Amino acid sequence: MTREEALDSIKANVENGNLIKHMLATEAIMRAIARHLNEDEEVWGLTGLIHDIDMELTGGDMKEHSKLGADLARELGASEAMAHAILCHNEAHGIPMETKLDKALFYADPLTGLIIAAALVRPDKNLAGLEAKSVKKRFKEKGFAAGANRQQIAMCSEIGFELDEFIELGLEAMKEIAEDIGL
Ligand SMILES: [Fe+2]
Repeated sequence: MTREEALDSIKANVENGNLIKHMLATEAIMRAIARHLNEDEEVWGLTGLIHDIDMELTGGDMKEHSKLGADLARELGASEAMAHAILCHNEAHGIPMETKLDKALFYADPLTGLIIAAALVRPDKNLAGLEAKSVKKRFKEKGFAAGANRQQIAMCSEIGFELDEFIELGLEAMKEIAEDIGL
């Protein structure tokens, strides 16, 4: 699967612009994690990019979400390792995470939401001026972007990251694609 093929399939299956931005942000963070861990940046990035491709098709049915996504990814040529990461990023299936790729996707997914929310409450509503220390402060505010599961983000220690370092890496990665995600 090339990045272009993944994007074409996303455009064909996803209408919600914010969901597409979420997937682009997840891709950026996955690429940064892969570089940091000396893993295959393309594989990790594409897994992040495509991970929620079935969100609209499954209409919020969490029993189906990510099963269909894994199938669509396989049809596009994704490896079993990629399909597995997509499958188990939805806890509803109860499939345990096995690889670092599985885990990285699970931890990066909610970090995008926290960072996007932290950018959107700024007067300029953009990422350029957002500092890691404010995201770390927001992390501790339970009521802020409550959908961004803090416990899940903090599990980054399982792939060798300090929480602060993980937040910094995520923020820097998203700043690189700020224009693409309208921030
Ligand atoms: Fe996601």
